[in-house]
Amino acid sequence: MTTEQQNRKNQHVSIAESFYHKEGESPFQDLRFVHHNFPNMAVGDVDLSTSIGKLKLDYPFYINAMTGGSEWTKKLNAGLSRVAAQTGIAMAVGSQSVAIREPEMIETFSVARKENPHGLIFANVGANHNAQAGLQAIEMLQADALQVHINAPQEIVMPEGDRDFSMWPDHFQGFIDQIQVPVIFKEVGFGFSKQSIQQLKALGAEIIDLGGRGGTNFSQIENFRRKEYKYDDLLDWGQTTPESLLEAQDHISSLDILASGGVRTAMDIAKSLALGAKAVGIAGEFLHTLIKEDEEALIDKIEGLKEELAGIYTLLGARTTQELAQTDIIVCGQTKDYCQAREIG
Ligand code: FNR
Repeated sequence: MTTEQQNRKNQHVSIAESFYHKEGESPFQDLRFVHHNFPNMAVGDVDLSTSIGKLKLDYPFYINAMTGGSEWTKKLNAGLSRVAAQTGIAMAVGSQSVAIREPEMIETFSVARKENPHGLIFANVGANHNAQAGLQAIEMLQADALQVHINAPQEIVMPEGDRDFSMWPDHFQGFIDQIQVPVIFKEVGFGFSKQSIQQLKALGAEIIDLGGRGGTNFSQIENFRRKEYKYDDLLDWGQTTPESLLEAQDHISSLDILASGGVRTAMDIAKSLALGAKAVGIAGEFLHTLIKEDEEALIDKIEGLKEELAGIYTLLGARTTQELAQTDIIVCGQTKDYCQAREIG
């Protein structure tokens, strides 16, 4: 492991954290529920559980992929894993490419299993890897699922990023054919189009995390890392998470669609579930709480999200996550304009 690679891992965390902003516009503002007056059930009737492929999750949100690959990020993975173990939510580690190349870095990821022996843990590799790398990543953590991150815009803006994406479909096919645990194809904050969802589905993919725009912005992070020419025009590239969920509507019943990107609140989670997501990933918001506060604060936040979600399910008359997916939701503003232009939703 070179210092340069450790630096990149540390930089991703510190730059993501420095750009983190809680206030301001959220693409979820364009989605609204209608208040009906008689919930006809008790908060105690709510069952928040859900499923991703064959995996059963007690809660419909998880800690999304972030880190590993350096001493500092090992500590962060350890902290996130203890929080996941204590709160019973699933967790993904960040890209394990470095540990596949440099075995001495394995424990910066495997700490996730050490601290959370019985929890649901997702391994993570990039689409530039083949199924063999995926198997190694799973083995490292005895992972319950594999995330394959799809991040062409990040690679393009990243000074040292990949420039050839022509092998991706072959790699996707390998993951689908050779990996036994559920495979989650995942964007990193640029969203999905219905055409790309259809292409993955045609290859046999079953689970897609839409990873939309609106939260952590890897164009911005990689652009900041560029020394000279800046790719400023790519700063707002991609579909927001609500736009991506609307792009996915034709596939909600035939694929397990996961939502992530810019999710901060229980209401963002509920809106994503109402648009058909089976579960919702949160990265930047949880990292911010862990870094700026501590593990206790993150546990409190997660317990608060569970409690508020049960209240929202009740107001919507939904006893289960499946029932929540039947709830009406109104699409307004720029998201509505986008749907009309794309003839979706
Ligand atoms: C990420 N993300 C990410 N995703 C992935 O699949 N592999 C990775 O290695 C990383 N690395 C990473 C580092 C840091 C510091 C952050 C904050 C995020 C992307 C993450 O899983 C998610 O898709 C995006 O961050 C969008 O979600 P949020 O942050 O808006 O909730």
